Amino acid sequence: MKALVVTPRVPHSACVRDNIPEPMLDAVPGGRGVKVQVLRVGLDGTDKEINAGEYGAPPPGFEYLILGHEGFGVVTDVGPNVTEFAPGDYVVAIVRQPGTSAYDAIGTPDFTTDSSYHEHGINLVHGFLTESYVEDAGRLVLIPGGLRDVGVLLEPTTVVEKGIAQAFEIQRRLKIWQPRRAAVLGAGTIGLLATVVLRLRGLDVTVFGRDLPPYFNSDLIEALGARYVSTQESDLAAGARAHGPFDLMFEATGFSPLVFEAMGVLGKNGVLVLSSVTGGNRTVEVPSDALNLGFVLGNKVMVGTVNASRADFESGVRDLAMAQARWPGWLGQLLTHPVHGLENAPKALELLGTPGAIKVFVEVNPLP
Ligand code: BGC
Ligand code: ZN
Repeated sequence: MKALVVTPRVPHSACVRDNIPEPMLDAVPGGRGVKVQVLRVGLDGTDKEINAGEYGAPPPGFEYLILGHEGFGVVTDVGPNVTEFAPGDYVVAIVRQPGTSAYDAIGTPDFTTDSSYHEHGINLVHGFLTESYVEDAGRLVLIPGGLRDVGVLLEPTTVVEKGIAQAFEIQRRLKIWQPRRAAVLGAGTIGLLATVVLRLRGLDVTVFGRDLPPYFNSDLIEALGARYVSTQESDLAAGARAHGPFDLMFEATGFSPLVFEAMGVLGKNGVLVLSSVTGGNRTVEVPSDALNLGFVLGNKVMVGTVNASRADFESGVRDLAMAQARWPGWLGQLLTHPVHGLENAPKALELLGTPGAIKVFVEVNPLP
């Protein structure tokens, strides 16, 4: 088989490799293996950073790592003890595998306290940018056929699902929390998907992005009944005065100094969700007394979130279905940059972050 591989920690090592051994169904014990033919794989900043040599690790015994953690595929074979899938079913694999902490033991490896984690296409486990893979049935999620055109968006959606579910979970402390207004910082893939999920929860959503409207992403945001504000025209404080107070804020810009600005405008009893994986080492000076005072007197919460558990994958499927039914065709518009064929997969890495790119993905095999 072919695969897009990197040599982790070696900058710009991505290449298409041949002679990858075909995965065997009985590699999974207990007859619970599922063989999946890969259809589409999305890429994001994580893949770019792994290819830049910033992080990532190969599986034990390998010198290369197969990239790709945003998978979408079709089942071609199942082990004798698999009841939940049959050939022809569409599936997405959960990214993180269980480790050894108590959180892993209860099905939430996304909260692991282990010192390292096992993630497909990122750390210690091969990813999906190959022809097929075998996974334990317990780590696959069924995608209804009606969602097959947008199934590749599930994994980034789960990151948003987890962050928003955590916000609601935390706010149970308030007994009667009824969030009305939300702010999303960042109008990229994660910001757009956060806007969908928050609109589905009935919130008034203001999205802050850098670019001046109107442009493709601001049109997409307005099509959901949300509003777009360019930070070139209004800072967060002015935006909050006009459209807040914000009960929930979701940070997805990748620009960490904005976190402190967001802290300064979060509403009383509000929750600020941080989702940007910022690999750099930027430092900034902040108005620490004022930020601290606002948090203390306003009973505010800030929470970091990474990865997602099975529950978030399942709520992600439901929200994708709701979004398709409510705004037909909207999700498909996020799939801006298809790259056809594994042999062209290195080109997908170059397309990441180019103007106009929302979701870059490799169409490994055409949808059946
Ligand atoms: C992935 C997450 C993962 C995180 C950290 C993100 O790009 O979507 O599933 O946990 O990177 O590795
Ligand atoms: Zn990702």
